Amino acid sequence: MTDFSRSIIVTGGAGFIGSHLVRRLVKNYPGYRIINVDKLTYAGNLENLKDIESAPNYLFERLDICDHEKIAELMRRYSVTGIIHLAAESHVDRSIKDPFTFARTNVMGTLSLLQAARTVWEASPQGYAGKLFYHISTDEVYGSLGFDDTLFTEKTPYSPHSPYSASKASSDHFVRAFHDTYGMPVIVTNCSNNYGPYQFPEKLIPLFINNIRHNRPLPVYGEGLNVRDWLFVEDHAQAIDLIFHRGTPGETYNIGGFNEKRNIDLIRALIKVTDRLLGREEGASEKLITYVTDRKGHDLRYAIDARKLNRELGWKPSLEFEEGLERTVKWYLENQEWMDRITSGEYERYYDDMYANR
Ligand code: NAD
Ligand code: TYD
Repeated sequence: MTDFSRSIIVTGGAGFIGSHLVRRLVKNYPGYRIINVDKLTYAGNLENLKDIESAPNYLFERLDICDHEKIAELMRRYSVTGIIHLAAESHVDRSIKDPFTFARTNVMGTLSLLQAARTVWEASPQGYAGKLFYHISTDEVYGSLGFDDTLFTEKTPYSPHSPYSASKASSDHFVRAFHDTYGMPVIVTNCSNNYGPYQFPEKLIPLFINNIRHNRPLPVYGEGLNVRDWLFVEDHAQAIDLIFHRGTPGETYNIGGFNEKRNIDLIRALIKVTDRLLGREEGASEKLITYVTDRKGHDLRYAIDARKLNRELGWKPSLEFEEGLERTVKWYLENQEWMDRITSGEYERYYDDMYANR
């Protein structure tokens, strides 16, 4: 058996951001054992990791993060020294319909994971030395900005509004509580909206690309004036890698794209690129824009001040938005089978059969 210098658990590695992170770590650190722990909910899709699934340093475990015993057992089996925690329910609209699932996974799931890490690491001969619990969170915990407000910093008080952001805020507090109470080395990062390949098509960008392709309506909430700060997903994965290795335990870092867009402007840019790549006349799909009832409690504006991360670790986004958008649209149009298997539900049935007898 190959000897690995360390074993790291990535939770939620079959999801959107998690799959980019797992791919990056598996490729860049052949000396690490990367263990992808994922329950494979509707949002988890192992097809996102097809290109690295047989790498010798990659392992997949289908587990619920709420299963504290099994997680602890896995940690002991592989002497895990690092956890990068991304598993979550992540869609605001679903949280409005079903807040309980968000509390279970995001709050209780994070607490279970923390408890497992605490049990295993406190019992190990080195205790917490050389260990890290890295929790991935969102800018949405800071609440909503007015158009003229200054950006969210690491010191902005929490003011979550949606059940999703409330559950993420609660999980962030638990992570910091384990640092302050038990001395667990933790890092929390709060990132702005990500976009790029492999995002589940319930989120704005992949949903709209797919709808443009099929000439379906593009449901714009309210007047489309809400502002989000967009970051290309590979830049987020690169920031996580950097912070995992060089960040200071106990610290919080904001990660953002310095790239604010009103929804309607983003949608128009998306239509332009998608029409061009589909060989349609410029603006042909503008007619698909359909203003619909606003999301309940829709936060007006998120915008991240990521200067601390730049100052302390030298990170900044590598990609201009126009280039990121072009790459993203191209990827979805070239990977229509991936999209079709998701929208038909085929991928979920495949896992149900595969794991039925385990
Ligand atoms: P996603 O919904 O695409 O993926 C979530 C993954 O978690 C899925 O693979 C799912 O199967 C898994 N999962 C869900 N419940 C689980 C459980 N109980 N046990 C084990 N696995 C479970 O999410 P994403 O967009 O990749 O987001 C990942 C993380 O980053 C989340 O914590 C989210 O809050 C945070 N985040 C996301 C964004 C964004 O724009 N997408 C921005 C900032 C922060
Ligand atoms: P989303 O991708 O759901 O991310 P978040 O709510 O976490 O920011 O939505 C991005 C923005 O787009 C948000 O302001 C809501 C809006 N939106 C629409 O206008 N129509 C849609 O169909 C969706 C999914 C989102």
